[in-house]
Amino acid sequence: MAQLVTGLVFLSVIFRYSIAANTLNPNQPLHDGQTLVSAKETFALGFFSPGGSKNRYVGIWYNKLRPAGQTTIVWVANRRSPLLGTKGSLELNGNGSLTINSMIFLPMPSVTLDNPVAQLLDDGNFVIREANNSEFTWQSFDYPTDTLLSGMKLGWDLRTGLNSNLTAWRSYNDPSPGSYIVSMDLEGIPQLILWSGSAKMWRSGPWNGTTFSNVGENRPDDLRSHFVSNKDEVYLTLSTKALTRLVVDKSGMVRQFMWMESVSMWNNFFYYPKSECEMYSKCGCYGVCDINIWPTCSCLQGFKPKSPQEWALRDASSGCERLTALDCKNMTDGFMTITLAALPETSNAILYTNLSLNDCGARCFKNCSCTAYATANISGAGLGCVVWVTKLIDLRLSSHATQDVFVRLAAYDLASISTKSSKKHQSKSVVLIIIFSMVALIIPLIYFYSWGKKKTIHKDNQFE
Ligand SMILES: *[C@@H]1O[C@H](CO)[C@@H](O)[C@H](O)[C@H]1NC(C)=O
Ligand SMILES: *[C@@H]1O[C@H](CO)[C@@H](O)[C@H](O)[C@H]1NC(C)=O
Ligand SMILES: *[C@@H]1O[C@H](CO)[C@@H](O)[C@H](O)[C@H]1NC(C)=O
Ligand SMILES: *[C@@H]1O[C@H](CO)[C@@H](O)[C@H](O)[C@H]1NC(C)=O
Ligand SMILES: *[C@@H]1O[C@H](CO)[C@@H](O)[C@H](O)[C@H]1NC(C)=O
Ligand SMILES: *[C@@H]1O[C@H](CO)[C@@H](O)[C@H](O)[C@H]1NC(C)=O
Ligand SMILES: *[C@@H]1O[C@H](CO)[C@@H](O)[C@H](O)[C@H]1NC(C)=O
Ligand SMILES: *[C@@H]1O[C@H](CO)[C@@H](O)[C@H](O)[C@H]1NC(C)=O
Repeated sequence: MAQLVTGLVFLSVIFRYSIAANTLNPNQPLHDGQTLVSAKETFALGFFSPGGSKNRYVGIWYNKLRPAGQTTIVWVANRRSPLLGTKGSLELNGNGSLTINSMIFLPMPSVTLDNPVAQLLDDGNFVIREANNSEFTWQSFDYPTDTLLSGMKLGWDLRTGLNSNLTAWRSYNDPSPGSYIVSMDLEGIPQLILWSGSAKMWRSGPWNGTTFSNVGENRPDDLRSHFVSNKDEVYLTLSTKALTRLVVDKSGMVRQFMWMESVSMWNNFFYYPKSECEMYSKCGCYGVCDINIWPTCSCLQGFKPKSPQEWALRDASSGCERLTALDCKNMTDGFMTITLAALPETSNAILYTNLSLNDCGARCFKNCSCTAYATANISGAGLGCVVWVTKLIDLRLSSHATQDVFVRLAAYDLASISTKSSKKHQSKSVVLIIIFSMVALIIPLIYFYSWGKKKTIHKDNQFE
């Protein structure tokens, strides 16, 4: 069981009185000190100051869940433009836009409304709509800050180009955008990427039908997330059966919390990256990271460090290169099976949703730019394979590795691996190679033998 952590909490929210409502109407501003409270009193919206800061922000927090008297902020409206002093007010204009101290801070609703109303809902969504219509013209769920709540989508609406991602706070006292962002990356096969500025820090790996392949924890059914990928949208949502939230924190950790009623605490259900091997491309291309050995980085079989000097100093980021160049044109290359904890980086990979592993291997073998292939149950249909046409990066071993990846190697290297097969994770591939070669030899023999027999004994049964 993961340790108990309270998450982002803040003490100095000033509660004076709440207006007994969950809606905001034009010409009825919400002043600093007042709060909107959702119908079942789950969430509250109002002004707050984080930590020791004197700046005032408009935010949404859990109204009733206050472990040890602390408040968990889940959304901040004006994270880039804080107010000074306690004279702030939030106002809904007659045309449906929101202003804080007469300053428009929100993307305008795309339509001008006649009779707008703003409402805080029980799932934590703050919405604007026409009073006589239930359709939202704007919702805070489309503009997350650092927290994903159940019902929010982390990802893309491809029709409008809206990209909803999570951006960490700069510090405990400062909700302005920090450098860590978690977003749904659409390059190659969709996956979550944790960015620090423009550097990738961690990746979730692609969805495999039940989970992202790098987020493999067994979890109770009530906590299962859902991934949707179609022509209109690509996003992750959290389970609505549990009280849970996903946060990217100021130190660059992606954490999922779950409320534990029995102890009235937020349980940090998981966090990533957990280990140095989960850091993005820790061992460079064709380098393999194994947290159970020291040094953690080594080269894949058939590869050697590109810069032995750097590797000797434990900087493996330059990665590995082939011992023997490929000879694809002559069709002599083969494939080595490695069993990894997750698929290698897929941002340049190609997904074939309807190809069996065999067909995939045949296709990869014939295409000289193909470096590897693997099975991938991404559609959940049991079919599907991934093909790489670039160098492989972010290779990780673990004691419960299950993802077989077939890597193209020159025949010479394959043969030398099969002769010095000692390490455990190679033996499988070597056995496979030997079996394949035996089968390749034996089948024609049997065939010719029986065909020869048939030809002489049952000559009239041949179809010619
Ligand atoms: C809506 O009203 C606000 C305040 O009166 C104004 O600043 C803004 O320009 C208006 N927006 C539109 C689209 O008319
Ligand atoms: C809502 O009210 C506006 C006028 O304020 C009207 O034009 C519109 O038809 C109404 N919509 C519905 C669904 O009743
Ligand atoms: C996060 O979303 C914002 C707003 O849609 C966008 O401008 C930014 O490029 C996104 N960042 C990433 C890393 O996706
Ligand atoms: C998806 O990945 C997780 C973690 O690696 C693994 O436990 C699970 O069995 C995989 N599911 C499928 C359908 O491949
Ligand atoms: C491979 O092809 C090259 C020409 O591309 C040729 O010179 C060489 O003899 C071939 N090797 C084998 C083993 O057939
Ligand atoms: C996938 O393959 C099956 C059988 O091979 C075929 O019936 C089906 O139409 C294919 N689906 C797509 C989307 O190509
Ligand atoms: C090999 O695969 C790459 C990537 O899919 C593709 O661009 C290229 O056309 C393929 N080459 C052949 C000969 O099929
Ligand atoms: C593919 O994923 C589906 C849905 O998670 C699962 O039921 C099925 O067993 C998986 N098939 C394989 C071959 O892993």
